[in-house]
Amino acid sequence: MTEMVRKSSGDEILNHWVLAVSCILLIISGYGFLFQTEAIGSLFGGFNTMKTVHNWVGVVFILSLLFSMRHSFKDALEYDEDDRQWFKVAGGYLSHKVKVPPMGKYNPGQKLYYLAILGAGIAIALSGFAIWLVQGNQTLILISHLVHNVSFCIFIIAVPVHIYLSTLANPGTFQIMVNGTLPLEVAKKRYPKWMKAAGKM
Ligand code: HEM
Repeated sequence: MTEMVRKSSGDEILNHWVLAVSCILLIISGYGFLFQTEAIGSLFGGFNTMKTVHNWVGVVFILSLLFSMRHSFKDALEYDEDDRQWFKVAGGYLSHKVKVPPMGKYNPGQKLYYLAILGAGIAIALSGFAIWLVQGNQTLILISHLVHNVSFCIFIIAVPVHIYLSTLANPGTFQIMVNGTLPLEVAKKRYPKWMKAAGKM
């Protein structure tokens, strides 16, 4: 039987699903508002309902994002010499000829992705709450719309890239989102430093 290694705990898996579903609903409805897309509005039962859904799903999203800090924040701030080398060879994504250094549990691309989502997520939530709840302060509302739209751009670039890298580009990775595990042999190849630290090689 294939020996499996656990990469994500039960609460991490559940929280990632809440984060992913809420984020995708926000992106779709946000796109609908930005371009006044009738078809998207009618998917939600009209623009008014879509606004209510967007606002409250935003609350779920930011709570889930803040909860994710419990698992991912510390790791995302730590970079060693191999991580610095990883940047120099662009993670091996641009050429198969370069030597990619051995990685720990997360590579620097994943750590930066997390920090980008965290930063843009906090900015989009704070500006969203200002647009939703503040009245009578035109300057604040204008700045909030700008911040909301700029953060939205970060999401529509980063999230599709993340989904592609976690599915088609790296077969087997999606399993981590479903049951939190991956085969030991794959883990040894992809995350040798993590496996060494865990005494598995
Ligand atoms: C719905 C499609 C999605 C799929 C298939 C997917 C897949 C995955 C997988 C497999 C992992 C674990 C990677 C690993 O441990 O090596 C992961 C991690 C993560 N996901 Fe997603 N995800 C999706 C949507 C999202 C969305 C919408 C967000 C952002 C709001 C997000 C944020 C994260 C973060 C911050 C991590 C931890 C850092 C990382 O491993 O890159 N994911 N995702």
